[in-house]
Amino acid sequence: MSARYQVTGATAAEISASVESGIRHAALVPGDPLPPVRTLAVELAVSPATVSRAYADLRRRGLVVTAGRHGTRVRPRPPVAARRAALRPPPGPGLRDLSAGQPDTRLLPPLGPHLARLAESAGTPVGYPDVGVLPEVAEAARERLAADGIPPAEVTLTGGALDGIERLLGAHLRPGDAVAVEDPGWASLLDLIAALGMRPIGVPVDDDGPMVAGVAAALAAGARALVVTSRAQNPTGAAVSADRAAALRALLAEYADLLLIEDDHAAELARVPLHPLAGATASWAFLRSVSKPFGPDLRLAVLAGDETTVARVAGRARVGAGWVSTVLQRLVLSLWHDPAVTASVARAADSYERRRDGLIAALAVRGLPAHGRSGINVWLPVADETLAATVLRDAGWLAAPGALYRIAGPPALRITVSALDEEDLPALADALARAARPAVPAGFSA
Ligand SMILES: Cc1ncc(COP(=O)(O)O)c(C=O)c1O
Repeated sequence: MSARYQVTGATAAEISASVESGIRHAALVPGDPLPPVRTLAVELAVSPATVSRAYADLRRRGLVVTAGRHGTRVRPRPPVAARRAALRPPPGPGLRDLSAGQPDTRLLPPLGPHLARLAESAGTPVGYPDVGVLPEVAEAARERLAADGIPPAEVTLTGGALDGIERLLGAHLRPGDAVAVEDPGWASLLDLIAALGMRPIGVPVDDDGPMVAGVAAALAAGARALVVTSRAQNPTGAAVSADRAAALRALLAEYADLLLIEDDHAAELARVPLHPLAGATASWAFLRSVSKPFGPDLRLAVLAGDETTVARVAGRARVGAGWVSTVLQRLVLSLWHDPAVTASVARAADSYERRRDGLIAALAVRGLPAHGRSGINVWLPVADETLAATVLRDAGWLAAPGALYRIAGPPALRITVSALDEEDLPALADALARAARPAVPAGFSA
């Protein structure tokens, strides 16, 4: 904990409010430890049970995490508005940042021409009664999904894939419920599950997607929803293969009540074919974000699914945010329909593939087996994550420590290739070879 921040309070509510305020004002930053329960109880002259209740409340709301002998710490991205810079300190001067996990902004299609076209064609302003998913957007989305083998479905829109997952989990599950997630998996999803007061159950992943025995174990342990990344799994780059999809579909057929969520966030950027699970359970949703191919700032994802699942999400949105702005819908439609944009997305996919495969090949030459079948990340198992990240940093590169993505799996680094150029690869691979110790041989999880 930052030496200056003193947690205060005489009741559990006051103590948890004091910690929350510390996080809000960045006096407590992600990873900071809270004082041990007994120490704080003595300092504040309250009973240990009072401090425990405060910490339990913070844990339930996803602000802190308790990990055995490591004690209670502030989560990497607690659901409390703090200055962004406090949540993600800038890399030191001269450091090349390969930790961000975001698309290469040099390769995103420029929006200017499309905005100009929209400006020309904008008719009279629309009011409340005329909105929802535009029929032409729904039709184009269905066509694009059908081309990838998604069964005919209802369609709605959300403010991105993560917003879609939040709405789906909120509509089907309750706080305390368990959600089966890939391990290692997307850090933002783990943060969301914590913020919803739900529990993640980790499912081991290999290059072909979630492993069947792991999914079976998570479902047997009571998971009420399963989130699967179709392609470009974050952080490992795994993509669900045809065989894995068939085996998972056979398993899921036994779990009619399960909410199945597929996250195809790489969408048009993925170079590997889609093998969907859509329709394997009665309640299913397939999310396709526009963030990676067209730009994260568009904040839009297509959510397709069975009638009840989509109606719940759309109905709940109607009594809340309402709808995704038709201005945004028209902009995305314009991007979808522009052959020049389609070509530039294909070029971006090639570029990611060259850099990702190039780095994996350069690491293989140096005796380091790394993973990344698709997407923008390379996952490199290492013997000691902290040591590897430190050695790498000393060589001028910043990678993301695997701890952000793991529940029970072994240590690794995540390297995002977006900020790399092909000529960087030999120097980076040399630095990684120095940073990594003999790698963990098989699988991603314990
Ligand atoms: C696994 C995964 N899903 C989805 C997304 C994108 O989500 P959104 O559509 O909310 O921008 C990301 C972005 O990094 C991701 O890694």
